[in-house]
Amino acid sequence: MSRSVEPPCSLPGDVLRAVKNVIGDSVAPIALHEPEFAGREWDYLKDCLDTGWVSSVGSYVDRFEKELAEFTGARAAVATMNGTAALHTCLILAGVMPGDEVLMPSLTFIATANAVSYAGATPHFVDSEDQSLGIDASKLEAHLREVATVDATGCRNRHTGARLSSLVVMHVFGHPCDIDSLAEVAARWKLVLVEDAAESLGSEYRGRHTGNFGRVAALSFNGNKTITTGGGGAILTNDGALARRARHLTTTARVAHRWSFVHDEIGFNYRLPNLNAALGCAQLERLRDMLERKRRLARDYGEQFRPVAGVRFLFEPAGTRSNYWLNAIILDRPSVTDRDAVLATLNDARYSARPLWTLMHRLPMFQQAPRSDLSVAERLEASVINLPSSARLARQ
Ligand SMILES: Cc1ncc(COP(=O)(O)O)c(C=O)c1O
Repeated sequence: MSRSVEPPCSLPGDVLRAVKNVIGDSVAPIALHEPEFAGREWDYLKDCLDTGWVSSVGSYVDRFEKELAEFTGARAAVATMNGTAALHTCLILAGVMPGDEVLMPSLTFIATANAVSYAGATPHFVDSEDQSLGIDASKLEAHLREVATVDATGCRNRHTGARLSSLVVMHVFGHPCDIDSLAEVAARWKLVLVEDAAESLGSEYRGRHTGNFGRVAALSFNGNKTITTGGGGAILTNDGALARRARHLTTTARVAHRWSFVHDEIGFNYRLPNLNAALGCAQLERLRDMLERKRRLARDYGEQFRPVAGVRFLFEPAGTRSNYWLNAIILDRPSVTDRDAVLATLNDARYSARPLWTLMHRLPMFQQAPRSDLSVAERLEASVINLPSSARLARQ
């Protein structure tokens, strides 16, 4: 991280002006991302209460899963109580075993690393690139050449002796990562590819929805996401057998029977309640409209930030279509002092803005975890700022 230096005095003011030009003056605080319930949410929730179908089975769960699969183009979607539960299940489905190492970005939300830990594995952190903010495929390849061996039995860390079983990629702020290159690296090193697509519902890479590139993927419908079920998530897969196993594992591994309770392995109570799925069905009906408005908002930010010296707006990478879940600007000169001066100015003016998550390798529980050089992630940590991104902020 860079030394403490005075920010260029005009930067915070310039950024505030650009933000105001996009979303206008407001006396009320502007949230970073807020849910929008403008469709049939009340009707569907009332229906659950009227019929008594409020828990983890019900027609809205089935419908939500079917519509999610249709929207994303995945063969199956299995709804879960949150994205972290989806991710944990994805890692088990990917064959991650206790004692394994799992390659993943340090630049991500804590849930990615937590899910690896829940599976009994150790995160092995790799660096990001500054166009998508996702894992840098060529740096990953170089790192594997340095630390790993691969043979018919799979990939191993030469230094720790642990099996490297899986690669988890993340589509940061909804911008698809360089997934084709990452899938090639994963195939070469016999790593099962898992997508943390928690932030990228509605995002496409070369015309294909994110979540269709790995063996399994996780979505999140937390209250801060593009659409929400209150709390919720889903597993996406194009493998029918994995979808059946996902459903089994997330419903306590109960063997189907009219009355007896038999469970054939240790499963999880991870299913999404019908109440939450009802919200999801109403939200999905308005998803395309929300995505359109979010793109308009991002376009306006892009235009307003073009003339601002010292920052760039983070556009979707070439060949992708982002959902622009969270808009971001990146300071040309990484500096926590400059970044925090901008954050203070925006938040003082009641425009919610925030920095990146603290990188995973800095957190106390992961400081000993294996890692590659993480210099780009560290630069980004000192230079990325998220801006208010709710669809309702888009101009008509
Ligand atoms: C990258 C990433 N992974 C996983 C999650 C976990 O999702 P949830 O909060 O639904 O458990 C989130 C969001 O919260 C996320 O942003």
